Amino acid sequence: MKRQPIGVFDSGLGGLTAVRELERLMPNEDIIYFGDTGRVPYGTRAPDTIVRYTRQDIHFLRGFDVKALVVACGTASSVALPRIAGDYDLPILGVVSAAASAAVAQTKNGKIGILGTAATIGSGAFSRAIEAEFPSAKLTSIPCPLFVPLVENGRISPSDPVLRLVVEEYLTPMKEAGVDTLILGCTHYPIIAEAIGEFMGDQVSLINPAREAILTLHHLSSLPKNQDGSGSCRFFVSDDPALFSKNASLFLGREVSEAVEQITLEEIG
Ligand code: DGL
Repeated sequence: MKRQPIGVFDSGLGGLTAVRELERLMPNEDIIYFGDTGRVPYGTRAPDTIVRYTRQDIHFLRGFDVKALVVACGTASSVALPRIAGDYDLPILGVVSAAASAAVAQTKNGKIGILGTAATIGSGAFSRAIEAEFPSAKLTSIPCPLFVPLVENGRISPSDPVLRLVVEEYLTPMKEAGVDTLILGCTHYPIIAEAIGEFMGDQVSLINPAREAILTLHHLSSLPKNQDGSGSCRFFVSDDPALFSKNASLFLGREVSEAVEQITLEEIG
């Protein structure tokens, strides 16, 4: 059987949290990753812009004859996917529905928190997905625009004073709402899960959306899986590959020994 890769994309580094799970759960699969580092962040942009970027990212990855696509970006999954997923004839998985189902399964008191970029929270996508399964859930949604730049700048230690301050500012209302389950609705946020968990307390379950999406992919019976041969990974970015390589290991949980290839935005347009 012909080996076809799985495509994964994000606005930048955050989607590597999905690659990490893919390598762990589906080690025979070949992966093509695209990080749109030339245009990160997506989360502060207008919906039409996010839709246009998402279509271009999909177009680029389809050039590799991928058998499935993972939209490893909370923003693109929330804002663009509901508008465009039906236009393609291959499985495209975002991070919203799997995370919503996991939160519904996890909560005991029915109080679920959702964190995300401004665009993700503005779209209401996580809330709709949860309410479809659990109409009486009590939801608290908070946009956290400062988390992505903090992560991108390596301010991730739970003892980092700036991170602590920002976590306290964003999450105090979440604590007051009494949520017992919190969706980290942006693929950058699992990197600061320790700081978030310390503030919220260990009785609150944190949902990593990339992990839930890859679990869904793993169980997708219609997707032909590679049965043997170790998987490979190719990385593409739209800005400086050196910058990407420098921080990628943090998200990926391993060093990036593969070459990181740079593409121009014209190539994906
Ligand atoms: N990783 C992106 C997400 O999941 C956040 C970064 C951005 O704003 O582009 O939403």
